[in-house]
Amino acid sequence: MKTTVIAIDGYASTGKSTLSKQLAKHLGYTYVDTGYMFRTIGFLVLQNNWLKNDIIAVTELEKALPALQFSWKEGDNAQMHMALNDLVYGEELRTTEVSNLVSKVAALPAVRAHLLDQQRSLSKASSVVMDGRDIGTVVFPNATHKFFLNAKPEIRAERRYAEMQAKGIPGTLDEVLANVIERDRLDSTRAIAPLVKAQDATEIDTSAMDVEAIFQLLCDHIKA
Ligand code: DC
Repeated sequence: MKTTVIAIDGYASTGKSTLSKQLAKHLGYTYVDTGYMFRTIGFLVLQNNWLKNDIIAVTELEKALPALQFSWKEGDNAQMHMALNDLVYGEELRTTEVSNLVSKVAALPAVRAHLLDQQRSLSKASSVVMDGRDIGTVVFPNATHKFFLNAKPEIRAERRYAEMQAKGIPGTLDEVLANVIERDRLDSTRAIAPLVKAQDATEIDTSAMDVEAIFQLLCDHIKA
């Protein structure tokens, strides 16, 4: 079956997931949040005490990887959620602790290789809107449409902080800004699949745009 892939890459907290979700719903495609996949692995590292003195126990993690399988699970209102080994994760993946660790986990070659296979197979059964950092460059270099979202770090931190406050997740605006900047640095400078705009991606600076305006822009590009 020929499926369509829409790749939405970009910096942390640029609105990728909100827009990707909205676009997938609009088009009747499956939404795949690849950040969720990396975050669940970061969460497991913390849960299993594989982080010692700020160093990830890579051997333990690599041994566990083959058993980590993602699948779809039906939730309320027939909504599909991505599960890791049959468990659906939520706000526990959005804590400052996980956010501070996830870029280090995402830089590990074995983790990226394991997730790459699973990300590619997710597009076989249905058309997808997939958001992440390397979707248009590495996971699907031949994606049908590619977008790259950016915004000023201060604006991204404010958006993320407001979200955290609304959900009761602890943390200060300064901590969020520091995390956003550090994650951008780690994600853009890692050796494998760094965060970089694909040459043929449409770049959108979302600093001064609201979600509705960006959504319209994406739809117009796809129609065109
Ligand atoms: O989109 P997010 O903020 O939930 O992603 C969490 C981290 O996962 C991000 O800092 C980098 C990593 N990531 C990645 O390296 N490649 C992807 N395709 C998606 C996320």
